[in-house]
Amino acid sequence: MSLPSLSTAILLAIVSLLFSCQGENQSQSDESATGNGLSVAVEESGKTPEGATIHLFTLKNKNGVEARVIDFGATLTALIAPDRQGNMADITLGFDQADAYTGSHPYFGSTVGRYGNRIALAKFSIDGQEYSLAANNGVNHLHGGVNGFGRVMWTGKEITREDAVGVELTYTSADGEEGYPGKLDVITRFLLNNENELRLEYEAVTDKKTVINLTNHAYFNLAVSGDILDHEVMIMADGFTPVDEGLIPTGEIQPVEGTPFDFRVPTAIGARINADDEQIRFGGGYDHNFVFSSGEGMQKRAEVYDPSSGRVLEVLTEEPGVQFYSGNFLNGSITGKGGKTYAIRNGFCLETQHFPDSPNQPQFPSTVLSPGETYRTATTWRVSVRN
Ligand code: GLA
Repeated sequence: MSLPSLSTAILLAIVSLLFSCQGENQSQSDESATGNGLSVAVEESGKTPEGATIHLFTLKNKNGVEARVIDFGATLTALIAPDRQGNMADITLGFDQADAYTGSHPYFGSTVGRYGNRIALAKFSIDGQEYSLAANNGVNHLHGGVNGFGRVMWTGKEITREDAVGVELTYTSADGEEGYPGKLDVITRFLLNNENELRLEYEAVTDKKTVINLTNHAYFNLAVSGDILDHEVMIMADGFTPVDEGLIPTGEIQPVEGTPFDFRVPTAIGARINADDEQIRFGGGYDHNFVFSSGEGMQKRAEVYDPSSGRVLEVLTEEPGVQFYSGNFLNGSITGKGGKTYAIRNGFCLETQHFPDSPNQPQFPSTVLSPGETYRTATTWRVSVRN
């Protein structure tokens, strides 16, 4: 090698060394900015039929747990968790393509609002003023109406906290939207940490008295496919709210003791799902609001364990109840992730919430939000394994 080309080679080597060092520093500082192996990324991921760009936010932690959220419907599109052998898999039902969520589906991963679950006869009154909502479930109103919050575009941005990364989504629901009074400014956040916890935070303010009950409608299958009848469920609830044929609460809180609704001791979902019981018949299985036993604030309220994979899902919430839904309306008509069709009981939901029809049931905890107040609630899903 001649002298000039040798010096050029040395120069190039020094330059590339400098660049690679910079690269290392860069990635180190990225890592410390997001904290200990946590990362959040955003990319474009399809369009709505109206031509709006859908964004996909991917949250990852140091253990390989991953949550995916799109701005359409503030929808959780994946939660990837290890089984007891360490195999990572998506434990939620839904679609591979983000734009598929704009088609018809039973709230896969959707943020549900302005009011989760049913409002009887699609009406309620505040201070003597009656409001009429869309009757989108027979004569009743379900999950916020025709579009609710799960079929609208939210505005998302990546967020970083000391011990978590996430996405913050905002949406303004106009006064009168779906029949509800008041302009409502809503925030939904999904935050992932290294404890394998996905925390969902909700906030809202209104300019007129309104009602609000936000939840997420993710469907889980801890075994990834097949039915969920062998999953063992524990719900720390001494009571549940029995319903009529239209799945509207009768207003009572019935003790779970001695009924197929007693999940205080972990029990397989399938163990009593065909019991000769009027409530099971009305629900076509489990589709009921469980009333948590004593205590307030963020508490562990439910746990699901799949003996086949070893996966465990714990539910901690500030809400007073949860709709335990055993996927009774899934009927094989939807083709979802990886070409799977979702048949009856191929997924379950634990929709943390205030009780259905509270706006018409004054004995239930109030769901009224007034101007000047801030609605704030949080729910955490924690994934782990048991050997
Ligand atoms: C909720 C309801 C169910 C059903 C599902 C969506 O869980 O309680 O009755 O409407 O949503 O299919």
